[in-house]
Amino acid sequence: MGNVILIGFMGCGKSTVGLRLSYRLRRTIIDTDREIEKEEHRTISEIFAADGEAYFRDRETAILRKLRQSANNQIISVGGGLPVRKENRALLHELGQVFYLRAEGGTIYERVKDDKTRPLLQVDDPLKKIETLIEERDPCYRESADVVITVDGKSFSQILDEIEAHVNERDKTI
Ligand code: S3P
Repeated sequence: MGNVILIGFMGCGKSTVGLRLSYRLRRTIIDTDREIEKEEHRTISEIFAADGEAYFRDRETAILRKLRQSANNQIISVGGGLPVRKENRALLHELGQVFYLRAEGGTIYERVKDDKTRPLLQVDDPLKKIETLIEERDPCYRESADVVITVDGKSFSQILDEIEAHVNERDKTI
């Protein structure tokens, strides 16, 4: 195990932080969305359109179960809705040290407003949807997390420094 896991709402920076962290810590990175797309040979939008959200959620749990068997000392970035399922929260804890990248709705909106690849945000009022979902999900993210990192107004290098300090601290105690 010993993985570093990044959770948080769509657009909070998991993918970019994950990639940069993988260079800094010299660990490989896995992104659950990309794993699902590879296995299904189709995009997240296509999966949602053809088979619906429930099917996608089952695929997320399947990926986590698989990672529990195979992932060691990796960076794992997970889809924004993955921690909502209770079983997934337990699996995340088993996989390693979980970081919740927490962002305000306004920060998220600015980053994702022109993005067409996130099916849940293709609605008339995406900011309202973002704020409602964040409110619903924040308790799930907190329950999943070992560390909460507030990202609003911070540079990527600040965020990486914070994560790295926690990872080093944990490594010392193991
Ligand atoms: C989702 C987040 C997306 C992707 C899917 C659903 C969500 O991942 O898994 O569109 O429910 O928040 P990102 O958080 O990487 O955008």
